[in-house]
Amino acid sequence: MSTMPIPPVDGRISWLRAAPLRAAPLRAAPRAALLLPLLAALACGGGTKTANDPVSADKTEIAWKDKTRAQRMDWMGLQVFPRMKSAFKEFDESRFSGFACQTCHSDKMEMVDFRMPNDTIYALPLENTVQSAREYDEKVTDFMVNVVTPKMAELLDMPVYNPETKSGFGCFNCHPSEG
Ligand code: HEC
Ligand code: HEC
Repeated sequence: MSTMPIPPVDGRISWLRAAPLRAAPLRAAPRAALLLPLLAALACGGGTKTANDPVSADKTEIAWKDKTRAQRMDWMGLQVFPRMKSAFKEFDESRFSGFACQTCHSDKMEMVDFRMPNDTIYALPLENTVQSAREYDEKVTDFMVNVVTPKMAELLDMPVYNPETKSGFGCFNCHPSEG
C-alpha cells in the first residue's frame, strides 16, 4: 500500500469555494416579471450610453473585458470606487460611511484575487430573486435594482442582466446564491 502523503489543501479552499459561484448568473432564471425594472433599464438601448450620463464621462476606449489586470485595477480605483461610493453614501450615509473596495469584494479580496461574486455578502435565492430580496429589505433592493446594478453594468461595459438570454450583469455578479 502506497504511503504517498496527500498535500494539505486548506489554503486553497477559498478559491475552490469561489469558483463554482461564477456559474450562478447563467443558472439564474428569475421570473421575467420580477425583473421588469431591469428590463426597463434595458429598453433604453441595452447598454447604449446616453449623451448626458456622467458615468460615461471618463470612459476609456478599452472595454472592461479587454482591459489588462493593471488597467482593471486602475479602472476600479479611479472610476468604479468613487462613483459607487457616492451612490452608496447617498443612499445611506451612516450604513456606508466606511465604504471601501471590501464592501463589494470582502476582507479576503486579495486572497481570492478580487474574484467576484463575493461569498460573504447576503445570499440571494435563484428563483424570485428580486421579489424575495424585496421581502427581506425593500429599500435596499430598490437601490440595488435601480442604481447599483445598472451603474455597475455600465462601468463594466456590460448590458444589464436579461432573463431571456440569461446573460448580462446582474445580482449574482456580486452576490452569492442561496443554498
Ligand atoms: C460597487 C462594487 C465594487 C467596488 C466598490 C469595487 N469593485 Fe472591484 N469589482 C467589482 C465587480 C462586480 C467585479 C467583477 C467584474 C466582472 O464580472 O468582470 C470587480 C472586479 C475587480 C477586479 C478584476 C478581477 C478579475 O478577476 O479580473 C479587480 C482587480 C478589482 N475589482 C479591484 C478593486 C479595487 C482595488 C477596488 C477598490 C479601489 C474595487 N475593486 C472596488 C465590484 C466592485
Ligand atoms: C455591484 C455589486 C452588487 C450588485 C450588482 C448587487 N448588489 Fe446587492 N449588495 C451589494 C453590496 C456591496 C451590499 C451591501 C453589503 C453590506 O451590507 O455590507 C448589497 C446589499 C444587498 C442587500 C441587503 C443585504 C443585507 O445584508 O442587508 C440586498 C437585499 C441586495 N443587496 C439585493 C440585491 C439584488 C436583488 C440585486 C440585483 C437586482 C443586487 N443586490 C445587486 C452589492 C451588489
